[in-house]
Amino acid sequence: LDNGLALTPPMGWMTWQRYRCETNCSGEGAQRCINEDLIKEMADRMAEDGWLDAGYQYINIDDCWMLPERAEGRLVPDPKRFPSGMAALGEYIHQRGLKFGTYGDIGYKTCQGLTGFHDHFEEDAQTLADWKVDYIKVDGCNENQEDMARDYPAFGAALNKTGRPIVYSCSWPAYMPHHCEKTDGCMNSLIQHCNLWRNFDDVADSWDSVKSITNFWKRLNSSDEMVQSAGPGHWNDPDMLLVGGFGLSVSEAQSQFALWSLFAAPLFMSNDLRDISQEARDILQNREVIAVNQDPLGKQGFCVAGCDGNLRVWARPLAGGDVAVIFQNLGFAGDGDSITLPTSTLPFKTFRIFKARDLFAKKDLGIFREELTLYVHVSSCRMIRISAATEQQIMV
Ligand code: GLA
Repeated sequence: LDNGLALTPPMGWMTWQRYRCETNCSGEGAQRCINEDLIKEMADRMAEDGWLDAGYQYINIDDCWMLPERAEGRLVPDPKRFPSGMAALGEYIHQRGLKFGTYGDIGYKTCQGLTGFHDHFEEDAQTLADWKVDYIKVDGCNENQEDMARDYPAFGAALNKTGRPIVYSCSWPAYMPHHCEKTDGCMNSLIQHCNLWRNFDDVADSWDSVKSITNFWKRLNSSDEMVQSAGPGHWNDPDMLLVGGFGLSVSEAQSQFALWSLFAAPLFMSNDLRDISQEARDILQNREVIAVNQDPLGKQGFCVAGCDGNLRVWARPLAGGDVAVIFQNLGFAGDGDSITLPTSTLPFKTFRIFKARDLFAKKDLGIFREELTLYVHVSSCRMIRISAATEQQIMV
């Protein structure tokens, strides 16, 4: 969507994966129910603990903020959990230099059965603009598949009419039989009408979930519709990051972060920033990996070798001619394996002589000729940035 927004993949924090639809705010639930305190505490942490500086800007309340019924035709936040109202919460977020995101549904009801936007596109877009919302995720539960091609663009037009710049995330492809590829034929409409879109299943806090999502991505190559559809202002969204949760080991968390960065995916955490481990923080705030994700060329990376096996190589072309490469070991027996990438395998550029830098180790590996061989532990990856080098450099 050409609205001047999301020129690089949006980054931020979102409630859904970790906090779901917890609406009981008493006792143990007090720290993790969907209410304004949760959002304010996360906003404080984002602004004060280096997240905003690293690029995490949006703070998004997903489903379960609203009442099941409208009042005078308007959406209403649950007054027990959002007593100050959405406009005041947005102001709190904006005062900290962050941006305010939330959630709705293109159908009559959200996925949790609360009020959807259907039949109220103009009023609801205006309500969001009145609250100074900066980002809206629009889900596709309780809507007929065949109406989506009409309704997603129509809601986008209603947002546009408010005059407020609002990032528009469409869950449309996640509800289509071919995820908007091939015969579904909605990919072009997504590029035109949405800033990003959820292509596939919901992520949950396990390595199996990450593997199933990456298996959907691994079948793509440079000429696939889905790879081609990504670019400044319009991105594929494999769903939230699990880093800082309970289900991934440190090396699996690195792998998810590396892959999402290579995919040019939106980077939305869904964790507890009040209590996050140093390891998770180091992964999520790794500036060199973030730079790959935020690369201004905006090309989506894909799998280039070993894609059907356990030893995979993924690559993404970057502005200025560099290439980001992930050497991934999906095996789980023993210690690890060596993976070799002949640079002639790279579909976009052949480096004969090149420099390689390890982005998690934050170390230059040296200058290489024709190929790179790296040892990768099981359930782990190494993310490398490759840049062209010269014969003279190899001599010194
Ligand atoms: C769907 C979406 C999730 C989340 C829930 C909320 O399942 O895909 O990301 O928004 O709805 O109910």
